[in-house]
Amino acid sequence: MAPDWFASSDAPLMAVVLGSGLGGLADSIEAATAIPFDEVPGLPAATASGHRGEFLLGRFAGARIVAMAGRLHAYEGHDAATLGRGMALMAGLAPDAVILSCAAGGLNPRYQTGDLVIVDDHIHLIHGQMGIAALTPGDDSGLRCGRWTCDATFADIAERIGRTDTARVHRGTYLAVSGPNYETRAECRMMRNWGADLVGMSTVPEVVLSSRMGLRTIAIAVVTNMAVPDAPIAASHDDVLTVSSDAGTRLQEIVAAIAESLPPQ
Ligand code: 6GU
Repeated sequence: MAPDWFASSDAPLMAVVLGSGLGGLADSIEAATAIPFDEVPGLPAATASGHRGEFLLGRFAGARIVAMAGRLHAYEGHDAATLGRGMALMAGLAPDAVILSCAAGGLNPRYQTGDLVIVDDHIHLIHGQMGIAALTPGDDSGLRCGRWTCDATFADIAERIGRTDTARVHRGTYLAVSGPNYETRAECRMMRNWGADLVGMSTVPEVVLSSRMGLRTIAIAVVTNMAVPDAPIAASHDDVLTVSSDAGTRLQEIVAAIAESLPPQ
């Protein structure tokens, strides 16, 4: 399925997941081969809007890249094993960098729409469960992965490249829920009291898998809307897509800078 040069090249390999509205990078991949999710055994088609639902293999900023343009979510009806399968496939290629992106609601009142947040810890409540030991039934290796660290070099790069005159880069705790509904005001208050800075519906299953495999990983969230009790209006998925496509440009610059930082193979 991969083009010959992809398999034979010794350029560093990046695995990237492009979240809601963040698919812009997909158009900048050179010589891309596209493989829709549902052409991969065990993967269903993506249904969430703003998610193309395909793998792209090609070149970006001098590196080889395998990108998931869009992802699967629990609210599409998928179990834990299915949610992790795309990331597991990419992890099987032994990438030198894993870069995950997502849209998220800002619970931390100091955040602003358009800010980027490096996810440096998480609370996993997808499927209402703490942890994701059951990615594969019978596989308890997730139990050993209660702690994960974002790659420090990647985080420094993201912090340096991602900030602009108006948008900032933070480090924060991401709370993952199943969705698809956004939070009520009371839920926002509860989540903030739990210590979360962000809330979203993805990314944590991928973080757990890739860090469990010892891959250098960073997850970057775009604050597409504020999830604070006194937010003037409730979030809409359209707002999420608009803000994230602007932030997508900065995300591309970060991915390019990480590509350039990778040692040759
Ligand atoms: Cl406010 N909540 C959740 N659960 N996911 C989001 C979001 C909010 N904004 C973007 N994604």
